[in-house]
Amino acid sequence: MLVLGVESSCDDCSAAVVKETASGPILKSLVRRSQDALHGPFGGVVPELAAREHLLQVRGTIQEALDKAGVGPADLDRIAVTRGPGLVGSLLCGFSAGKALAWREGKPWVGVHHLLGHLNAARFKDPDLPFPALALLVSGGHTHLYLAKDWTSLELLRKTRDDAAGEAYDKAARVLGLGYPGGPPVDDCARRAAKAAEPFTPPRFRDGQPAWSFSGLKTALKLRVEKNPRLATAGAEDAEVQALCRSLQEAIAAWLLKPIPDIAREQGAKSLILSGGVACNSELRERAALVAEREGLVLAIPEPKFCTDNGAMIAAAGAKLPLEAGFGLNADSDLRLGA
Ligand code: KG4
Ligand code: ZN
Repeated sequence: MLVLGVESSCDDCSAAVVKETASGPILKSLVRRSQDALHGPFGGVVPELAAREHLLQVRGTIQEALDKAGVGPADLDRIAVTRGPGLVGSLLCGFSAGKALAWREGKPWVGVHHLLGHLNAARFKDPDLPFPALALLVSGGHTHLYLAKDWTSLELLRKTRDDAAGEAYDKAARVLGLGYPGGPPVDDCARRAAKAAEPFTPPRFRDGQPAWSFSGLKTALKLRVEKNPRLATAGAEDAEVQALCRSLQEAIAAWLLKPIPDIAREQGAKSLILSGGVACNSELRERAALVAEREGLVLAIPEPKFCTDNGAMIAAAGAKLPLEAGFGLNADSDLRLGA
């Protein structure tokens, strides 16, 4: 089965052609047009600009993905397109383009939940992963832990109360003047640090409810920079900036992974999936490998190109989902899983 996947929920316009086979998905082409340069000067995604750029890019992105795969729309067996959640203007561009193509070509189509896409990115790594699996999906918009019974059935176990982990990276990079998106430069600085700065204190919750929280981390970092204003402009080559990045990175990875062993045992999990943009993070990948080994979990972390938003993960998820009936369905910026 040949599937076209289209993703436009935030600031990446992406399309991919994936061949779904009995032994898993095979990538035929993947095109990703990033808007980093457009949003960089603002230190974060500007929704209206993102939507306008998607409108300009989406047709060309889909065409390029088809061309690179050496196929035409008539060769497709289905079209999978992100339905939500995300920025509504951005979503509408990809969703409407995918739906229109399906209508024009008379092809089956399916709307995909963005997080189901991130989960299914792991199928490129290990299509035969044993279930149940814990799926830690960490991006600029989400920090969610799910129990996956299979590739399409997810139960939410815990999430962040405030900022997503990727947001913490992006905000920290803004405070330190390291650019947008913040994950890659902070990761790079942390790697080059000779030593870590003073560790960040983990958040404590008065109600005792299990959750994550990352907004305090940004405030703590800001306070350190206010005490030492030089850090705001010292740049990526500065040893103190690198040390601060190392502490930040260690804190985020440690906090994310801390509850995993207990929850894995409680839930009888056999695997651990790590996906979403923050799953590109070197510290998190290394620490997750140690946790998985200690706990006897099969670990699936997709290659970085499948971790950040991309059309291939949407195609891989779409191949597993029931098709839509008709064309009445619309994008939903607040789409719930299982809704
Ligand atoms: O999944 P994604 O592409 O888009 C969303 O759905 O949000 O994730 C983007 C997020 C950004 O916050 C970016 O800073 C973060 O992923 N990210 C990283 C790294 N690469 C990207 N965070 C930490 N370390 C990285 N190497
Ligand atoms: Zn995402």
